[in-house]
Amino acid sequence: MLDLRAQFETIAPEIRAAIEGVLTAQQFVLGPQGEALEREIAEACGVRFGVGLASGTDALELGLHACGVKGGDEVIVPAFTFIATGSAVSALGARPVFADIEPATFNLDPDQIEARITPRTRAIVVVHLFGLAADMDPILAVADKHGIPVIEDNAQSFGATYGGRKTGSMGRLGCLSFYPSKNLGAYGDAGMIVTSDEKLAARLRALCNHGQTGQYLSTERGWNSRLDELQAAILRVKLRHMAEWTAARQAHARLYDSLLADLPGIALPRVPPGREHIYYLYTIRVEGHARGNNKTNDRGNEVRSDLVQQRLKERGVASMVYYPVPLHLQPLYALLGGKPGELRVSERAAREVLSIPIYPELTSEQVERVAEVVRESMRA
Ligand SMILES: Cc1ncc(COP(=O)(O)O)c(C=O)c1O
Repeated sequence: MLDLRAQFETIAPEIRAAIEGVLTAQQFVLGPQGEALEREIAEACGVRFGVGLASGTDALELGLHACGVKGGDEVIVPAFTFIATGSAVSALGARPVFADIEPATFNLDPDQIEARITPRTRAIVVVHLFGLAADMDPILAVADKHGIPVIEDNAQSFGATYGGRKTGSMGRLGCLSFYPSKNLGAYGDAGMIVTSDEKLAARLRALCNHGQTGQYLSTERGWNSRLDELQAAILRVKLRHMAEWTAARQAHARLYDSLLADLPGIALPRVPPGREHIYYLYTIRVEGHARGNNKTNDRGNEVRSDLVQQRLKERGVASMVYYPVPLHLQPLYALLGGKPGELRVSERAAREVLSIPIYPELTSEQVERVAEVVRESMRA
């Protein structure tokens, strides 16, 4: 699915020099590399401030906390996402309220939000999934009408745009993950919050460092979630290559689009007008029952023997199902009482999605080979 070594080989001397610089400086946490990265990422996102953190999950948790989310509150979250989007809400003692997605984009459906707003709703988390922005204008309009902050989970879409605006810049704050597999990935865990709200940025800066606002002076309970200098230095090197890497991902996506366009039983990623997809993943739908047999295990969870995925594997092509179980049906959330059939679009997506390899270093020949094997696997 991903060949990090191939990428490393293209930038090894730059990376080694950046690491050497940190080793020489012997400053490892909250230093000049982190500060420079915060400025560079903020600028890339079109916001005023970046606050470096230890992970994308921490970005969500601290961001929600800074927006006032606390025990007993409710937070509206799409059901079709990585578990961290929900568990960051739970970590604060608040309750995620799951909403359905749009079938074409896999992103939060703006029409599913208002019915879920109650007097306890404290925030809405929008996820820009797979590299594509969610439909922000109607989401921001409903949030604004009810005076509820929008938090952007931008873990997967750094660099994507919506109507000319960068993801992460449209809500109260945006959360980034630099997990190694991300388009901009560190060599360990790292994350960041971006925002144009100066007060919020200052508070987050304290929150990630034990709530300290002065030397050994804490004004509130905080976290230890600081960005380390080695990761920041590595990320700064990689950031310089982002434009060319994104262009390569987009070229591969266009090639897949053209090679798979006429294949029956498959739906390709759709990009609504006015949005730039950065293809963190290239996720197709294998429609109907074509992807495999649906079975249920003794706990009532679906387990799929995924025929197409199996056939791809037999022909030496990796693929992944992101994500096979929507959040409302996760065992973690059994106590919230989610039932199959409640969020049909998310459940259908979970049954049908299949992500095929996309990363900058793929060659056109490799993309053609994957497309050919997808065609064979649909026929077999
Ligand atoms: C949508 C989404 N949200 C949150 C996260 C959490 O980020 P991290 O792994 O850096 O904690 C991830 C990635 O792992 C993600 O894909």
